[in-house]
Amino acid sequence: MRLLRLAWRYTQPYWWLLVLVVVFQFAQSVLSLLLPTINGDILNDGVLQGNTEVIWRLGGWMLVLSFMQIIANALAILCGAIVAMRAGRDMRADIFSRASGFSEQDMQRFGSASLITRNTNDVQQVQMLVLMSCTMLMSAPMLSIGGIIMALRADASLFWIVGVAVPVMLIVMTIIVSRLIPIFSTLQEKIDRINRIMREQLTGIRVVRAFVQEPREKRRFDAANEDVYMAMLKTGNLFVIAFPLVMLIVEISSVAVIWFGGHLVEAGELEIGTMMIFLQYLMMILMGVIMVTFMTMMIPRAAVGARRITEVLETEPSLRQGEGEAAPRDGTVEFDNVTFAYPGADAPVLRGVSFRAEEGETVAIIGSTGAGKTTMVNLIARLFDVTSGSVRVGGVDVREADTEAVWASLGLVPQRPYLFSGTVASNLRYGDESADDEELWNALDIAQAKGFVTEKGIDSRVAQGGTNFSGGQRQRLSIARALVRKPRILLFDDSFSALDTATDARLRAALDARLGHVTRIVVAQRVTTVQNADRIVVIDNGEVVGLGKHEELLETNETYREIVESQMSVEA
Ligand SMILES: Nc1ncnc2c1ncn2[C@@H]1O[C@H](COP(=O)(O)OP(=O)(O)OP(=O)(O)O)[C@@H](O)[C@H]1O
Ligand SMILES: [Mg+2]
Repeated sequence: MRLLRLAWRYTQPYWWLLVLVVVFQFAQSVLSLLLPTINGDILNDGVLQGNTEVIWRLGGWMLVLSFMQIIANALAILCGAIVAMRAGRDMRADIFSRASGFSEQDMQRFGSASLITRNTNDVQQVQMLVLMSCTMLMSAPMLSIGGIIMALRADASLFWIVGVAVPVMLIVMTIIVSRLIPIFSTLQEKIDRINRIMREQLTGIRVVRAFVQEPREKRRFDAANEDVYMAMLKTGNLFVIAFPLVMLIVEISSVAVIWFGGHLVEAGELEIGTMMIFLQYLMMILMGVIMVTFMTMMIPRAAVGARRITEVLETEPSLRQGEGEAAPRDGTVEFDNVTFAYPGADAPVLRGVSFRAEEGETVAIIGSTGAGKTTMVNLIARLFDVTSGSVRVGGVDVREADTEAVWASLGLVPQRPYLFSGTVASNLRYGDESADDEELWNALDIAQAKGFVTEKGIDSRVAQGGTNFSGGQRQRLSIARALVRKPRILLFDDSFSALDTATDARLRAALDARLGHVTRIVVAQRVTTVQNADRIVVIDNGEVVGLGKHEELLETNETYREIVESQMSVEA
């Protein structure tokens, strides 16, 4: 049912092509059905009567009709293929755009490997079924039913052979297909598993090598691979039995026609040409039965695909775009008694967090690992929604603001900087497509990335994920990317941690000197990074335990003093 709905939804825009498919298939079937009759007439009226004129005339007609049949068939397949490929293309586009709107939580639910399989292999299964439906499934019933009518018209005395052969064929095919169906319907998940293992290994290849886990990983892959192999082998074995069996039924039926027909011909009750006509229609009917039952084998696999595709398409992104149109008015950021629990978790990660950053201020957030700092940054960027309280950006509650407008005012440097495959310049222009080279170099200069970019060149290649750059280089490129955007608010999530203290200091000085008007939220672990901030938010276990300047906190705040002392002793 889901399969039908999905297939209809995506082929319906091309309904006129479907109409063409039906028309051409119909023409093709009618033409195919005419041919044996003419063939028989040639035998009866031409060959047996020794009438060459009839042979030439009817032979000519057969030639013309066969040619037309081939054209009609080709056009039907062409239209069918266009519909199927377009449906596949549209499905992939929809899955992609749906998945792009997913929040982190939705992503976690599906997993990226599965989303990729869904968008490739699953779509392919459905697409294949649409194509086969437009070709085989549509013509097979026409040929079978038409064949039965034409066979009856040709001669009723042999019709009992059809009555025996078709049910036998149906039973045999049903048995074979019913054994294939369970194998095919689990194949999708097995392929999913192979993809997941392969992907995980490729992404984590360095770790796998470093921990000398290649043999173990290889075993894991081999097991999954073997699983697919065994399933495919089982289908192979079934096919080995199926083909000879089907051919046997076909051959026995034709022998039966010739045997019983031969007796009738001998007795003068049947013309030999009619017997030949009957034989050809019998073949058509049996082929129709074989095609239809074989098609049913593809349905479960496509149905599994359709279910998996529909799941993606019907998932409403768990973060709805703000209903309001409000755009941030200035560069302030405010947390007002924010409590937040990750969806599905019982305990909140943040409790009653309040602080405010004025325009142009630098507010630092410091706290131990797991304290909830990244979570705070994610809330500002509205990657999640607060459980209670509110987060205001530019004076507007982010839930009531136009999310695009909020994002436009933010320059986010995530904790794990991600670069896209392309060039350094194309990555920087992610921040602002229209930025000219001067603006790019300007951003690189502030981000302290000018040195190594000059060396490599701004058009040097960036591998997927930015793996051909060092951690610190990646971090600085991702800072530059945020700067190119010229946002009102910059969010640095632990973005200075991979930099040495000198570079860290130069970067902060450059930010102060050239982007003094921009509000900066700086998450950091290092005291030196935060000590000059206008305000420091000390966060511990999801709660604000201190708020103030470095000197104040040093005197009044126990947690902050502990952090400072622990770092001083390390440096000493
Ligand atoms: N997507 C998530 N789903 C559920 N829980 C999460 C998720 N992300 C983080 N957490 C939990 O929230 C808590 C705070 O995580 P967060 O990433 O905000 O810490 P952090 O202060 O940024 O730490 P670090 O300094 O190590 O980056 C952690 O206990 C973590 O387990
Ligand atoms: Mg973090």
